[in-house]
Amino acid sequence: MELMTKREINGLSESFNREEYNSPEIFNLEMQKIYGTNWCFAGLSEELGKVGDRLVAEIGNESILILRNRDSQLRAFYNVCQHRGSQLCDASGSGFGAAITCPYHSWSYSVEGALVATPLHEKDSIDRATLGLKPVKVDEWQGAIFVSLDENAPSLTTWLDEHFSRPRELEKFDLATLKNARTTIDEVEANWKVLAENYSECLHCAVVHPELVDLVPIYKTGNTIQADRPDWGVSLSSGATSLSLKKDENLPLLPAMDDLDDYSVFGAYVYPNMLIDLSPTVAVLTRYVPRSATHTTVYSYYLFPKEVVNNPEYDLEPTISFSDMVNQQDISVCVRVQRGVASRSFTNAFHTKMERYCRHLIRRYRDEIK
Ligand code: FES
Ligand SMILES: [Fe+2]
Repeated sequence: MELMTKREINGLSESFNREEYNSPEIFNLEMQKIYGTNWCFAGLSEELGKVGDRLVAEIGNESILILRNRDSQLRAFYNVCQHRGSQLCDASGSGFGAAITCPYHSWSYSVEGALVATPLHEKDSIDRATLGLKPVKVDEWQGAIFVSLDENAPSLTTWLDEHFSRPRELEKFDLATLKNARTTIDEVEANWKVLAENYSECLHCAVVHPELVDLVPIYKTGNTIQADRPDWGVSLSSGATSLSLKKDENLPLLPAMDDLDDYSVFGAYVYPNMLIDLSPTVAVLTRYVPRSATHTTVYSYYLFPKEVVNNPEYDLEPTISFSDMVNQQDISVCVRVQRGVASRSFTNAFHTKMERYCRHLIRRYRDEIK
């Protein structure tokens, strides 16, 4: 048995220290050992609807180019031209035709990564077969695209099964059938672990999210799980039917939400960079893109049943605004934490017994970073 420190016996365990929240060296190590080995949430499957569409995602310190081939399978490559190393694509978007053409000397690659054109050169003067793009692992789950830079990574579902947050139990909600109605992007002056710790506890909920705890009463107690619900769902307050600024919200329910006894919310942190938040009428997927030790870009995708999106019969604004309000409340406390943990007076943070999911996070982190 591990020796417990005096503090742990008193109910406190040490969280991340000042260096782990601020140091560029540790940040680089995290990009290699955590973002460079785990599967990372890279975007939505629907962003690659057809051949020629491209998704550019920052994974660890790498820019990754994700494409769909003619058989609708995903392909991912380092976003690097094999001629003189130019970055190939700057941003996600629709391509003209299937070829990826380098903006420097116009070498072109197929969606399978093969070098197919080298203008101004005789056809056989270059051994094209040896100059294909360098592939990385890519897969999709529930409408979300994941990339792993580790060529020996386990399959995506095996990896998902290793999460204490049990993300695969959310498969019953059939998220792949939903459609994205809005993407928001927040540039946040906080370390990604500050955001992940904040998501992993609800001690702050009553203080920071008064509107949310009105609709989800158990959150007032600091708990995120109801003892009487083995499905890890959490019931809305009586009379509430959704998380929305509008009281009598009339949006259709997500798949399988109808089968539950109560109007409910579910959440899961898919370490290291994805959050899944389900409520009766909307699924919000969040993607962290760490830029530096003190800066994280946060993408939020608001997914609804297909028939609801772009349908003038339904007003999605009150639902999106409610989630965004909660998101902004979280962001502002995380920025506040980042300012505090930069102080030379700060040594390390603490987790109490009630912050047990934070403890899971730090255990896995320490295990991978060592
Ligand atoms: S660097 Fe891409 S074609 Fe020259
Ligand atoms: Fe929160």
